[in-house]
Amino acid sequence: MRLERVAAQVPPGARLADIGSDHGYLPVALLRRGAIAVAVAGEVAATPFQAALRTVRENGLEPWITVRLANGLGAIEPGDGITAVSLCGMGGETIRDILDSGKARLNGRERLILQPNGGEQPLRQWLMDHGYRILFEEVLHENRFHYEIIVAERLGPVTYTAHELYFGPLQLQARSPAFISKWQRVLHLRQQTLAQFARSRQGVPEHKRHDVAQQVRWISELLA
Ligand SMILES: C[S@@+](CC[C@H](N)C(=O)[O-])C[C@H]1O[C@@H](n2cnc3c(N)ncnc32)[C@H](O)[C@@H]1O
Repeated sequence: MRLERVAAQVPPGARLADIGSDHGYLPVALLRRGAIAVAVAGEVAATPFQAALRTVRENGLEPWITVRLANGLGAIEPGDGITAVSLCGMGGETIRDILDSGKARLNGRERLILQPNGGEQPLRQWLMDHGYRILFEEVLHENRFHYEIIVAERLGPVTYTAHELYFGPLQLQARSPAFISKWQRVLHLRQQTLAQFARSRQGVPEHKRHDVAQQVRWISELLA
């Protein structure tokens, strides 16, 4: 379900770079459906790299999917003509760091399809700081977990408020049932953290307490 929702955001006929591809399921599924033209599957670790090679070979897709052992966007080569980049199933900070350290590999016209597991706020901050507008966002609820999908393109300067960076500008407007249930859960967790801080014998740094208290306030206002 999670990767299906990601797949739905890949433009038809794209030349896709799937970074952190692991088993390579996303590019293989898209190619088998004829939904994309070609793909690069990038992996930094040897075992998932071998798994991706195997999936591609077993599906006879070697002419269309290149599997590369590389760190982050280092898997993309200028001649690939990549039009979409997916980074899925990693923390938002990791995705941000991969984008930041590899930004010289981007031509600025690629669609970014991101599926962070937490750390969405710093990822949105990076997108804003680099002129990426968020075109689509979704929260999905699967197997007791909430997943976010963020699609962005570099369309020029854009400004998001602190609230929008925290909750997601489009999700704040749409307020889907999955979005509400995610924030109900986060509120519960943050309230538990505040209670732990109150019980803690070692003093909790004031900025930490303030940060969590502000999150509780924002989420409570959202859900009110
Ligand atoms: C949890 S898996 C997600 C796999 C797949 N993208 C998905 O969403 O199902 C994360 C993968 O990212 C890879 N990865 C982590 N950091 C990476 C980096 N800097 N460059 C390339 N791959 C990376 C890991 O080796 C791992 O296979």
